[in-house]
Parts: sequence; C-alpha cells; structure tokens
Amino acid sequence: MTEFELILDLHKNSERQGPGSEKETLKALEFIKLQNNRELKVADIGCGTGGQTITLAQNINGKITAIDLFPEFLDELNEKSMTFGLTDKIATLEKSMEELPFSAEELDIIWAEGAIYNIGFEYGVKSWKKYLKQGGYLALSEITWITNSRPKEIEEFWVQEYPEIDTASKKITLLEENGFTLAGYFNLSKESWIETYYKPMEARFESFLIRNNNSKLARKVVEDNKAEIRLYQKYKDYYSYGFYIARKNEQ
Ligand SMILES: C[S@@+](CC[C@H](N)C(=O)[O-])C[C@H]1O[C@@H](n2cnc3c(N)ncnc32)[C@H](O)[C@@H]1O
Repeated sequence: MTEFELILDLHKNSERQGPGSEKETLKALEFIKLQNNRELKVADIGCGTGGQTITLAQNINGKITAIDLFPEFLDELNEKSMTFGLTDKIATLEKSMEELPFSAEELDIIWAEGAIYNIGFEYGVKSWKKYLKQGGYLALSEITWITNSRPKEIEEFWVQEYPEIDTASKKITLLEENGFTLAGYFNLSKESWIETYYKPMEARFESFLIRNNNSKLARKVVEDNKAEIRLYQKYKDYYSYGFYIARKNEQ
C-alpha cells in the first residue's frame, strides 16, 4: 500500500475524519434560518464516512447529496444511512469538490466540515457560491488561529500544512468580500478534537499496524499522527477549527 492508501485505511473505520461532533453540527445548524415547510436541497462536501451527514439528515427537512472523492468512505456512509433508515434523504456521490454536478442557484445549503481546505478556503467559497440560491447558506469548518500571535513551532507547522490558515476575522472578511453575510461563528471545543477525533484515532493505531504487518510506512503514518496530536496538546490554546455559517446576499 502507498502512504496515501494507508492514511485512508487508518481513517475508514471511523466516525469522523476530522475534529467535530454531533453537538457542534447541531449548533451550526441553529444559525440557519430557512423555511422548513419545503424540502431543502443540501450538499455535504467532503463528507467522509458521514458523521455530520447523518445528523443533518435527522434534523433537516430535505435531501442531502453527500460527496467525497473516496468510495471507501461513501460505502460506510451508505451502510449507516441504511442502519438509521435515512436512505431516502441521503444520496452519496463519488466526485471531486472541484467538479460539483449542481446547476446555478440549485442548493439551499452547502455544508463542509473540515474539507474545504482540500481546494483552499478562498477558492472553495468563490467557486461554490454559484450553486447556492440567493439567501442560501454556507456552513464551513476550517482550521483557524484563535490568537493574534503564536509560538514559532506551531506557526511553522500549520503554515507548511496549510498556508491559508488565518484568524477568523480574515476569513470572515473574505466571506464578506465574496457576497456573504456572517450568520454565525464559533470555535470547535477541545472535546471535539480530543474525544471525538484524536482518542478514537489512537484506539485504532494497534489494529491498523497489525492489519498492515507493522510495515515501515504504516509505522510512519502512526508516528505522523502522534506528532500532530502532541502538537495539539501543547498548542491547543492557539488554534481550533472555526465554524463559519454565512448567508449568500440577495441581489
Ligand atoms: C478531514 S476529512 C473530513 C470528513 C468529514 N467531513 C468529517 O468532518 O468527519 C476531509 C474529507 O475530504 C475528502 N476529500 C479530499 N479531497 C477531496 C476532493 N477533491 N473532493 C471531494 N472530497 C475530498 C476526504 O476524502 C475526506 O473525507
């Protein structure tokens, strides 16, 4: 297996592939004020195994297209949809977030938890906007600095991982410059990093290594993730995922 395939293997049996929680998906949803007497059209982009997709489907009157590049994740989401009796509300689609199949102003909500970074926040906001109805909503979680300055070690780590990392005020300005009005913002709690993401990941390390014959590359994948967890433990007061909920301005 390549390193990339190993990373997929580590993540595929998990509830979430990034920080987040049911509680915080629901908190973000509360900022969205849309009439609930008609069926909404929603896209959940970079849905992974669909931790948030299930919560959305259980709480929205509408249909959700859950999109991810990797069928391994979508297969798990399809299984969950069946278990929860939500197959009439969730349709999965194997597709890149750069090639969305929607028409102009088709969607009421675009949801993306921990995923827009794959194409960059600014490019994503600009290129997805056309698919939203006027008055429709974007709900995005994105790695965000929560202080104005920070130690060099963590600054260098994240700037190298994701050069677009910035403060919430900069991201909100970018949303405003692109025709959105902020409807809500909050930082994900530390619990959402540790309890629902890092701890379950740590619990999978051993079986992951056994499954992959304790190969050098599998050990590297585990070590890289352990290093990221150590950095989070050390510097968690300086960054989080910001949850941005923004409404497309009406013209
Ligand atoms: C950090 S995970 C977040 C998954 C899920 N939303 C969650 O919070 O648990 C990012 C997701 O984006 C997906 N992804 C990466 N690049 C993509 C692309 N170009 N198009 C669609 N999905 C992509 C990955 O497969 C992964 O499931």
